[in-house]
Amino acid sequence: MKPSVIAIDGPSGSGKTIVGQRIAREFGYLYLDTGAFYRALTWLALNRGVDPHDGPALASLARGSSIEIVAAPAGEAPGYSVVVDGKDVTRELSLPAVADEVSIVAAHPEVRAEMLPIQRQATRRGNVVIAGRDIGTVIAPDAGLKLYLDAPLPVRIARRIEQLKAMGMTPDPTKVAAEMAERDRLDQARAVAPLKPAPDAVILDTSTMSIDEEVALIRDLIAQRDP
Ligand code: DC
Repeated sequence: MKPSVIAIDGPSGSGKTIVGQRIAREFGYLYLDTGAFYRALTWLALNRGVDPHDGPALASLARGSSIEIVAAPAGEAPGYSVVVDGKDVTRELSLPAVADEVSIVAAHPEVRAEMLPIQRQATRRGNVVIAGRDIGTVIAPDAGLKLYLDAPLPVRIARRIEQLKAMGMTPDPTKVAAEMAERDRLDQARAVAPLKPAPDAVILDTSTMSIDEEVALIRDLIAQRDP
């Protein structure tokens, strides 16, 4: 049987979104980006004046709000819309103000405790490609296929800059580089659900492969699990 849940973890700019969306489209799976939940909560905190260092206040904000991820019109980056309390905030989630604080928000155990059931529930529907930092280790430890995508930091910085430009923004390369390095550090160092490959994850260095090659390799991995 094909793996019903495909978990993709890895740092920012490792290619989770593009590869995950391609695989999801090819197999008719839903693509779910769990980073969008943390970004949405960060956006909400900034708008409501909630301190990104206050875990309990952030958890209560998450409990009292609705964060939905819905499919975007075909071809529109990033492929889905994030709707917070009825307002489409997708574009705002890429703003430096959100990127600067999101790793701090995501590190709170209280925040992760709120996100866990929502994200785990999303995997129960099956036929889902779910991307994040702790999917293979915490959210979906039973996933039929676990991938961990990685690439050297300079490669990931260049990709993020291109991604932001594709969304019509004019990113400052120095700022993007500093922000990504800091986010990597915070995501890997946090006590709860840090970024790391699950022991049974297949690790792919995406700097040495084209997207088509990555997709072909993942297709093979899926086929191996569906003899
Ligand atoms: O993938 P992204 O850049 O949108 O992620 C935003 C932040 O959320 C990043 O700092 C890591 C955090 N995150 C997390 O802690 N756990 C996840 N499952 C997904 C994202």
